[in-house]
Amino acid sequence: MGFSEGNSAKGAKLFKTRCEQCHTVQEGGASKTGPALHGIFGRKSGQVEGYAYTDANKQKGVEWNEETLFEYLENPKKYIPGTKMAFGGLKKANDRNDLITYLKEATA
Ligand code: HEC
Repeated sequence: MGFSEGNSAKGAKLFKTRCEQCHTVQEGGASKTGPALHGIFGRKSGQVEGYAYTDANKQKGVEWNEETLFEYLENPKKYIPGTKMAFGGLKKANDRNDLITYLKEATA
């Protein structure tokens, strides 16, 4: 019931419509409303320098990878109670698979 490889092109579209207003993915990308996501895989939560996270996000202390992102993005406020990320979640597993597949490439 966890992550499985999805469709990166579909994931790119989802990122554009659902995430891009608040996040960048490319190397050197700035933090916007949300922290820069470049290099997110293998990084612990709350580590982007200069970004003002909530304590909730910082103290989650989880390593971001396919599985943790899969769970987080379904319902961010449930996974990190107290987060200020104003995003309801991607309820469809396939959407999360596509988005995470895209993120792995785009943030590397
Ligand atoms: C309305 C703005 C907004 C949208 C839309 C949004 N985010 Fe966020 N995101 C944030 C904010 C703000 C935080 C920081 C939360 C905190 O500090 O509590 C965050 C945090 C995160 C984190 C944790 C980063 C870290 O360094 O710990 C990830 C991963 C993330 N967002 C991914 C996404 C993805 C993927 C999408 C699209 C599906 C998305 N976000 C949509 C604003 C947004």
